[in-house]
Amino acid sequence: MTKIAVLVSGGGTNLQALIDAQARGEIKDGKLDFVLSSNPDAYALERAAKAGIETDVLRRRDFADAEQYGAALHEKLTARGIGLIVLAGFMTVLPDSFCHKWQNQIINVHPSLIPSFCGEGFYGLRVHEAALRKGVKVTGATVHFVSEVVDGGAIILQKAVEIEPDDTPETLQKRVMAQAEHILLPRAVSLFCQGKLHVQDDRVTIE
Ligand code: GAR
Repeated sequence: MTKIAVLVSGGGTNLQALIDAQARGEIKDGKLDFVLSSNPDAYALERAAKAGIETDVLRRRDFADAEQYGAALHEKLTARGIGLIVLAGFMTVLPDSFCHKWQNQIINVHPSLIPSFCGEGFYGLRVHEAALRKGVKVTGATVHFVSEVVDGGAIILQKAVEIEPDDTPETLQKRVMAQAEHILLPRAVSLFCQGKLHVQDDRVTIE
């Protein structure tokens, strides 16, 4: 049974999708063990508490640099015997050393079809604003492993979502979450916990 830690910073709808999937028995061979927020006011913390999952808060500003933040995080996660880290709207960039230590054990969900609208500065609503500005007709979500390159790790799952003519960043964000993120993330987590994801040459094959 893989112990899963979910790292959050905000609303936590992706965390909720994981909690609901677990309740339906869809996270095979894995268990949500711990939720850590970079923001003490994140609603995600309430969702975790309601589901009976232990929580903690680590604020980036309480550490001198990203290295020290990463070291504190690493310590907490290893002490609990965590086997998979899920970034679910976690808005703090992790240092290279942390990503290296947890290579192929960190999964992130991003609200676009990578390599479009991703990398430094593309997070949350900004991603959808950029997609609408560009006028793309299709966007979506990507679940990928986290590497030292922001949004650059091996892609696990992707799903396309249509853009409607009258979309705002908010309506588009909602549709991408409901039709793609909340479906892909639990699926990827379950595949990981079952040992079905294999990474070679920066590409993922699913057994
Ligand atoms: C989600 O759309 C997630 O994909 C995005 O932030 C939102 C968090 O929502 N993450 C990124 O943009 C990371 N680059 P949530 O707190 O309701 O899950």
